[in-house]
Amino acid sequence: MYQRGDFLYEGKAKKLYKVQSFDDLIWVEFKDSLTAFNAEKKGQFSDKGLINSKISHYIFNYLTEQNIKTHLVELVEPQVWVTKKLDMIPLEVVVRNQVAGSLAKKFHLPKGKKLKKPLVEFYYKSDELQDPFVSAEQIECLDLYSNLEILSDLKSLGLKVNESLKSFFKKIDLDLIDFKLEFGCNDKGEIVLADEISPDSCRLWDSKSGDNLDKDRFRYDQGKVEESYKEVLNRIERVYA
Ligand code: TMP
Ligand code: ASP
Repeated sequence: MYQRGDFLYEGKAKKLYKVQSFDDLIWVEFKDSLTAFNAEKKGQFSDKGLINSKISHYIFNYLTEQNIKTHLVELVEPQVWVTKKLDMIPLEVVVRNQVAGSLAKKFHLPKGKKLKKPLVEFYYKSDELQDPFVSAEQIECLDLYSNLEILSDLKSLGLKVNESLKSFFKKIDLDLIDFKLEFGCNDKGEIVLADEISPDSCRLWDSKSGDNLDKDRFRYDQGKVEESYKEVLNRIERVYA
């Protein structure tokens, strides 16, 4: 029923278009490209867009069942979503359960160390600045985002999504180490989960072997990138399809 309209924007992992006759919707195509370190490193594999679209679709449906509002309207093709158009909040919300990535680097902490409670961090979305870490005070004093009341809502939503995702992945023997979320506001002023949740935006470690099945395999040339993304999808389909 929905048809692709005019081209809007091409990001690192998705292409956005209008939806014909629906001004409040966006047509989102998942691309096969992979980037890391603010797109300094580029790669791709065939079906990457398809795999991430499917993984993310299962997860967004699961979160909807847990009463979390998302931008997903319909999977119109295996690699294409129609979503609600939102006023995007220029912050990345990162939630961490165990030390890895930039946190390990910043504080010289061992990878895998469990945090005593989930840690929520904000990063300011800016390609030019390479998405720097920001504190709530910096957001306020530098006028990075005017609607400050939502910061505590973003934190509680991040923690709620974390609890849902941890149990989602536990059933398929994956430990959720950390992940990144993006949100927007709808026309009622409600905060809605946007973007995607996939091995691009999560760290997922096998509960038994500790092997990672996520974008770090591409970032750090660990090999088996495609196999790892497929393995995540296969595990999800075995349990949730
Ligand atoms: P970090 O340890 O590099 O700060 O990443 C934390 C989490 O956020 C990790 O699961 C990967 C994800 N992430 C993105 O989705 N996009 C990004 O641009 C970055 C830097 C991290
Ligand atoms: N998302 C960023 C990029 O595509 C960074 C990353 O995920 O490592 O460059």
